[in-house]
Amino acid sequence: MAEVTRHIGLSLGADICWPLCFEAIMKELDLRIPMNGDTIRFEVERVTIEPFDLRQGCKYDVVVDRLTHWYHTSREWIKKAVLMNDLYVFNNPWSVQANEKHTTYCAMMRLGMRIPDTWMVPPKSYEENPDLKLTLTRHAKLFDLGALGERLGFPLFMKPYDGGGWRGVTKVDNAAAMKKAYEESGKAVMHVQAAIHGYDRFVRCIGFGPQTHCVLYDPSAPLHERYTTKTDFISKEEEQHLRKITLTINAFFDWEFNSCEALRRDGLWYPIDFANPCPDSQVTSLHWHFPWLVKAYLRWTIFCAATKRKMRKNQDWAPFIEIADMDLPFEEKLERYAAIAEKRFDTDRFDEFCMKHLAHLDEVTWKFFGTPAAKDAVRQKVAALYPPHEHEKFTEHFWSRIQEWRAWEEARMRKSVPADRPSGKLP
Ligand SMILES: Nc1ncnc2c1ncn2[C@@H]1O[C@H](COP(=O)(O)OP(=O)(O)OP(=O)(O)O)[C@@H](O)[C@H]1O
Ligand SMILES: [Mg+2]
Repeated sequence: MAEVTRHIGLSLGADICWPLCFEAIMKELDLRIPMNGDTIRFEVERVTIEPFDLRQGCKYDVVVDRLTHWYHTSREWIKKAVLMNDLYVFNNPWSVQANEKHTTYCAMMRLGMRIPDTWMVPPKSYEENPDLKLTLTRHAKLFDLGALGERLGFPLFMKPYDGGGWRGVTKVDNAAAMKKAYEESGKAVMHVQAAIHGYDRFVRCIGFGPQTHCVLYDPSAPLHERYTTKTDFISKEEEQHLRKITLTINAFFDWEFNSCEALRRDGLWYPIDFANPCPDSQVTSLHWHFPWLVKAYLRWTIFCAATKRKMRKNQDWAPFIEIADMDLPFEEKLERYAAIAEKRFDTDRFDEFCMKHLAHLDEVTWKFFGTPAAKDAVRQKVAALYPPHEHEKFTEHFWSRIQEWRAWEEARMRKSVPADRPSGKLP
């Protein structure tokens, strides 16, 4: 029986808190996983940024990537390592590069999801280009923005087609406000989207491999309070519905870590924003939910590394489109999309693996989040974000949220009912 080491790389940007927790819990777990006659051990290392030879090897089996979406040297290093060295990385860097919010709206409309009516409009202004004047004078039609607003109905949302981080998002209530928002949109190519007005639930469903976690979200709260700590805010059926929606999106785009925002109005769910590959992972936004996310990182990384899961390099949309074209009610289609997703994400094998090899993860994580090391991770993140006079206040604030989670988690672990499956899929 040989001892085999799997190398895990963390490709990080401004991340501070979750990697510290990830590394500390990994050390505490001190895993020795028996697999095909070998004992699998793990080493975690932070990936450095440096010049690289396109033909050089890659020591990592799995890289957890937080940089691809904006730091291109790392993105290109990852693309090289996937192609040349069979590296496994989440998310698929080609898919992150190619698919913006606009594509995700089109794709999920095609699958029949209840996406609000959305138009695209040409930009207000342009980069200089020798062909620009001729192109626009010959081919661009004058359009009546106000009439488009009337058609979609106010209020509506104007937002960049490739948005993120609420950049350039404006809610407009009338034609004058719409015109002003357009004037101010500059070179951005904009969507004009009907608002889901009067919703009674706003949920962010985080998907990590086959794992899903729904959070009640409050967009009107300050940044650090938007993820609420409420539990039991939707039924089990609704939670499974959002799980299916999220996993379908994530499997479609080969985004293993992404989140889907959906609004409920009159009992119906409307997904509004689901192009968030590599979503926020900071304790300063997630607080109560942060331990879940750290566990989700650990489980999926360990599973992929231990089992030598093969990365899907090519996007494959055809099986979803085939179902979309069937003459079936949407719920049945969704059932079938989700079945593809659960298969692509290996849900059953993942749950079995976690129950067999990571049964102690809950307990170890619960203990870790009571230690000075965990508090220091929170403090370091707070220090990076807040002015000095607020360090103490916000460290205590987020720390107390985590302690509230520990009390809740302890009660959950003490219950004699069997724990949920790690993925969140109903048995
Ligand atoms: N169609 C809509 N109906 C209702 N509210 C909307 C709609 N579109 C956007 N919003 C509101 O505007 C916010 C920002 O929009 P959106 O999530 O599309 O932008 P983003 O820049 O991708 O944001 P994020 O940082 O969440 O990725 C949403 O959280 C929501 O509160
Ligand atoms: Mg959003």
